[in-house]
This record gives sequence, structure tokens and C-alpha cells, in this order.
Amino acid sequence: MNRLMDKTVFPEAYFHRADESPDGNFYSAPRFVAHVDPETIEALTEFYREFVPLKADVLDLMSSWISHLPKDQTLGRVAGLGMNAEELAANAALTEYVVRDLNRHHELPYAKGSFDRVLISVSIQYLINPVEVLSSTRSVMRPKGQIAIAMSHRCFPTKAIAAFHSLAPKERLELVSAFLYEAGFEGIEFVDRSPATGDPLWILTATSPSTSSS
Ligand SMILES: C[S@@+](CC[C@H](N)C(=O)[O-])C[C@H]1O[C@@H](n2cnc3c(N)ncnc32)[C@H](O)[C@@H]1O
Repeated sequence: MNRLMDKTVFPEAYFHRADESPDGNFYSAPRFVAHVDPETIEALTEFYREFVPLKADVLDLMSSWISHLPKDQTLGRVAGLGMNAEELAANAALTEYVVRDLNRHHELPYAKGSFDRVLISVSIQYLINPVEVLSSTRSVMRPKGQIAIAMSHRCFPTKAIAAFHSLAPKERLELVSAFLYEAGFEGIEFVDRSPATGDPLWILTATSPSTSSS
């Protein structure tokens, strides 16, 4: 994957959506469904077992009723941020949750340096200001904290940004990698954890710098 060395200007058209109405409308009713196949969820849970250290404070950004974390893993704080209160209230992995539209407010409602790990699962394609959101995310992470952005090939088509419709999977990964870079993350890496059958699982990981900056 290419490392981008200069500030990237993303085409504005990348961030258009078929449904530009407030996201609160789309997410007003809970959806107690899985957004990828069971084998893919299992692969993501196994990845999280390695990625999330015991007792870590975790933020599940763009969360729903399932976080895919191993049930037997002892963690610290597990905060969920998403769009539907009923889904978040039903999420047994969370120790707290907040409803917040990141397409309206990209600042996160957490103190600086709160989290060791941040997870964004099959949702990055819904952000219209991803660099701003990821930059806010970096500021609520501890130095050398890590983020994992898990991606697959399914989406809510009307709510996904245009780039996710027009770009090939490899290009989408490069785009999200560039979002992370522009947001100030370091050590961006890609791992393919796709199961033998089921939806693919492509994961980008990155690290917050050792000294915090806003
Ligand atoms: C496809 S679901 C994935 C949910 C969960 N992360 C998972 O892995 O099953 C997309 C999620 O993105 C969240 N989301 C979509 N738009 C959002 C926005 N504008 N602000 C915050 N969260 C959003 C929704 O709450 C929803 O839970």
C-alpha cells in the first residue's frame, strides 16, 4: 500500500450520498441484524482477541447491538457510540453508550487520552467527514493506542459515500488508509482476515502518535 507523503485533497464528489437527509431518520428504528456473514464475524472476533489487550479501555465507534468482541475477554471501559439508542442499550459488551451523529458533530464526547483501542466495524463508508472524525478519535486515544477499521463489501447503498460505490476494494482500502494518514495516525497496516467462505474481512490498523497533539 502506498504511503501518502503530502496532504491529500479528496474529491468533494467522493462524499456525496444518494440519501442526504439527516442520518437520524435512517437510523431511527433499530436493526437487530448482522451486517456480515457469521464466518466473517467469527474472524473479526478472533482478530479482536489479538488486537485488544486484556483490561484495555475500548471505544466501539459507529456501534450497534453487537461489538464482535470476545465474550470471555476481560476489558476495562467499553464505550459505544452510534445512532440508535435501542441497539446500543441491547449491546452486552458496552459499559456505556452515547447516541451521536458523527456527520453533524465530528468532535467525540470523551476526554483526551481515554482509550487504548478504537474499533470501527463495517461502517467507515457512512462518514462524510472521515478525516475530521478520525482526527477527533485520535485525540481521545492514549499515546500509542491503536485503531482497527474493519471493512467488507456490503453496505446500506443510499447512505454510503459515493467513493465506496465507484472505487474497487483495493482503492477503498487506499482511500481509508489516506484518511488515517491525514488524521495523524502512524504505522498504517493492512491485514486480510477474510474467512474461506462468507463476506470478506479487510482490516486497516494504525497507531496514535507517542506524543498527543490535537
Ligand atoms: C452497518 S452498521 C454496523 C454496526 C456495527 N459496527 C457492526 O459491526 O455490526 C452501521 C453503523 O454505523 C452507525 N452510523 C451510521 N451513520 C452514523 C453517523 N452519522 N454517526 C454515528 N454513527 C453512525 C450506525 O449506528 C450503525 O450502527
